[in-house]
Amino acid sequence: MKWFIRSVAAMLIVAGSFQVASAAGIRLPKGYEKWDKSKEKVVTDKSSLFYGVHYIYVDKKAMATYRNGGKYPEGSQFVVDYYNIREEGGKPVKGKKNMVVLMQKDKKQKATGGWLFAGFTPDGKHNKSLDPVKNCFECHAKDAAATDYVISRYADFK
Ligand code: HEC
Repeated sequence: MKWFIRSVAAMLIVAGSFQVASAAGIRLPKGYEKWDKSKEKVVTDKSSLFYGVHYIYVDKKAMATYRNGGKYPEGSQFVVDYYNIREEGGKPVKGKKNMVVLMQKDKKQKATGGWLFAGFTPDGKHNKSLDPVKNCFECHAKDAAATDYVISRYADFK
């Protein structure tokens, strides 16, 4: 019986890695830099996970819901560009880009609230080591279940 459990476990691991393999095609949406862009957001608290400078980009599909609330339509997208902080004349300014994240409304993504969550390297390669549930959704679910898992607010956008 043990061997059976072990081989089922092995199969699940293989199935899991297939999922990752199929997710290898995840790309950042082309031209997101031209979407509606938030003001510069600076987090100077070094103990924060978000220490640095970031900008949120919102596509046309998502905008009405972002402004007015409700459930986002299929295909809605948000991208965030994260940068390090550099000191310049005692002031924190934008340094090197260090990460990009994407949320894309996709009803197939049942484990993550109907959103595809993905992280990318600064040059736009999908970072497959990030677990969309543990590394992304758990925090978004905790803070933003009432706003379809979108944490930022239009009121703070510009
Ligand atoms: C510890 C909590 C936490 C984790 C983990 C986290 N986020 Fe977020 N995320 C936030 C917060 C807080 C904001 C809002 C930032 C702001 O208001 O400027 C945000 C904003 C976003 C946005 C812009 C839309 C929105 O919800 O406002 C995207 C896209 C996003 N995160 C994707 C991701 C992805 C992909 C991951 C995993 C790789 C991830 N996040 C992990 C807390 C988290």
